[in-house]
Amino acid sequence: MNLVRVEGLSRDFGSGDRVVHAVRDVNLTADRGELLAIRGRSGAGKTTLLNLVGGLDRPTAGTVYVAGHEVTAAGEQELLSLRRDTIGFVFQSFGLIPILSAAENVGVPLRLAKVPAAEREERVAMLLELVGLGAHAAQRPYELSGGQQQRVAVARALANDPQLLIADEPTGQLDSETGRSIMELLRALVKARGMTALVATHDPALVEVADRVLHLRDGALATPPPPDPPSSRARRAARSLLVALPARRAPSLLVDQGHMVVL
Ligand SMILES: Nc1ncnc2c1ncn2[C@@H]1O[C@H](COP(=O)(O)OP(=O)(O)OP(=O)(O)O)[C@@H](O)[C@H]1O
Ligand SMILES: [Mg+2]
Repeated sequence: MNLVRVEGLSRDFGSGDRVVHAVRDVNLTADRGELLAIRGRSGAGKTTLLNLVGGLDRPTAGTVYVAGHEVTAAGEQELLSLRRDTIGFVFQSFGLIPILSAAENVGVPLRLAKVPAAEREERVAMLLELVGLGAHAAQRPYELSGGQQQRVAVARALANDPQLLIADEPTGQLDSETGRSIMELLRALVKARGMTALVATHDPALVEVADRVLHLRDGALATPPPPDPPSSRARRAARSLLVALPARRAPSLLVDQGHMVVL
């Protein structure tokens, strides 16, 4: 069953002749236990798409369903509970609270969900173990490396056992080695928990761990180019032949139903 279903999703910014079509008529689905990478140049619409799927922004047109909830029709209250219980976010900039320890940061969503203190502590310890930071629970973000901070952010995103993890360039600020270890961590979590992950990235290492890679170009999902029909291949060959021939004997080429004739 699809955990995520996106239909005809578009998001325009601005108005009149200054309108930016950040996301254009995107359709996609993601299954439970699937890790999808979303690639595309800067400005291609990755962040906009993820924000729409996670209910952080509203589309100009189209529908998003996550775990049976119509995110695009949800009111503020339903969105809050979706973000608290169903969807976890990881951002490029980690987004940790500087005055809180690693453990306290991971515990924030559990506090918001009013999980009792004893259970909270147990879950936080388990989550920090899971991301390999059991020994760093008391350290504040500035006492941790970038990769460790991102691990804390991943642990925090997992605190309420979300069905969907949305990560926007989670390795963007990390060196390639550390980035790879975060990606492998995400993959292991997706497989172990049957979670679905949508991950925007420029990082080529991600392609190796993703189940599927989607390419965004100018807000639209790029489809692979169709195979060349023979006539256009012949036309292209004719064009390159024209260039290759010496200029003094200016030839004329005729392409007739895929056959090339030199006149
Ligand atoms: N709030 C906004 N107001 C106006 N334009 C916006 C807004 N947010 C995004 N855009 C525009 O929408 C387009 C897509 O931006 P988006 O941030 O989704 O790209 P991206 O693929 O995430 O890029 P990057 O890889 O640099 O993070 C860009 O042209 C951007 O300028
Ligand atoms: Mg972005």
